[in-house]
Amino acid sequence: MRKPLMAGNWKMYKTPAQTTQFFESFLPLVAASSHTGILICPPFVNIAAAVAATRGTNVSVGGQNLHTATKEGAFTGEISGPMLAAAGCTAVIVGHSERRQFFGETDATVLARTIAALESGLQPIVCVGEMLAERESGKTNEVLATQFREGIAKLTPEQFARVVIAYEPVWAIGTGKTATPEIAADAHRFIRGEVRAIYGDEAANNVRILYGGSVKPDNVRGLMAQPEIDGGLVGGASLDAVSFASIVNF
Ligand code: PGA
Repeated sequence: MRKPLMAGNWKMYKTPAQTTQFFESFLPLVAASSHTGILICPPFVNIAAAVAATRGTNVSVGGQNLHTATKEGAFTGEISGPMLAAAGCTAVIVGHSERRQFFGETDATVLARTIAALESGLQPIVCVGEMLAERESGKTNEVLATQFREGIAKLTPEQFARVVIAYEPVWAIGTGKTATPEIAADAHRFIRGEVRAIYGDEAANNVRILYGGSVKPDNVRGLMAQPEIDGGLVGGASLDAVSFASIVNF
């Protein structure tokens, strides 16, 4: 059985003080929630506040991106995997579609960052997903296959075993348009099939595939009823303590 994971991606939202306030409301609401892993990925400057607030709780903290280098160096504006780990993070989002669209992320850089995360002892949550035009022209599976094969399919089996995949159709992110549970499950089945082709049955059965894209308290149950869907990567609805708690407690 795969244990679900509910991950909040805060993007470029909240200050340290707002982070502390969020956890004051959120932690009591999920203190008894042992059915799922719970992760919050705040902006870098809020990691210290998030780690302080969640110490000794069932909530973990992750980064939203990391540099490909695992040694310190002259990379102005960047943050490394070892820095995230030292700050108390246990995971990191890699290859989010916003990074692919706005910051030049490619399948090759996604692979390099995933390796950097693994070498830093962080669990990478690697995002894949098609754009609206790609779905409308029937290219969804082709896009997902390329993102997988040119990216994390190049990991060793030992490395791959520590990866979480997030399927995030770009047309569903921040738009209020969720993929139906069936559309999401189809994509998850296809991705799991790709994993099976490269890494075999056991890896395919074990890998967690999260769905992301307008997950809300009122649609999470339908999504989680699909055995293919192992959790959520939640943007907007993770910013509010009550709303994210009700997603966690689906
Ligand atoms: P959303 O974002 O839940 O606001 O659609 C999801 C994501 O981008 O990870």
